[in-house]
Amino acid sequence: MEAARELHGQLSEIDRLVVAVGSAGTAAGLALGIHLLDWPVLLDAQCVSHTAEESESDIRRLAGEAAELLGVDTGDLAHVRVSDGAVGPGYGVATDEMWEALHLFARTEGIALDPVYSGKAAAGLVAGVRSGAIGPDETVVFMHTGGLPGLFAYAPELVRLSENSR
Ligand SMILES: Cc1ncc(COP(=O)(O)O)c(C=O)c1O
Repeated sequence: MEAARELHGQLSEIDRLVVAVGSAGTAAGLALGIHLLDWPVLLDAQCVSHTAEESESDIRRLAGEAAELLGVDTGDLAHVRVSDGAVGPGYGVATDEMWEALHLFARTEGIALDPVYSGKAAAGLVAGVRSGAIGPDETVVFMHTGGLPGLFAYAPELVRLSENSR
């Protein structure tokens, strides 16, 4: 929720915020924060481990529990879209699309993603742009949730792929 407030203060004129969803606390906090700020931004929640149905239910449950603690309402959370197209075979299982997104972000932006969370969320973002689901006029923010040390666990695969793409 604090992250939503901070981002709203810096960049309120955006259309879409893309974030990875694992156990869903991050997305739930953002979803509730966006609602309380009355901020017209779409929260594009990209699953990395569960189905979209499971993750949406986790987001709603956690946002509801947080709202109860704070004594606020959650609204209908209609600004949350959950997608599971980038998960691939499962949590932590690398996909070609994830590696492609990881290389794309590294080469074009100098941003290092991790294969388990931000890499798969980025793969979902790239797929959305390619399919047209994310329009050319949309202003999109990708929330990098960290996880860089996870990249080292995939070092042999990363080195092999990098050598092949030279
Ligand atoms: C680097 C990174 N990004 C994203 C997430 C997903 O966050 P959440 O579990 O709140 O959905 C995690 C969770 O461990 C993480 O380590």
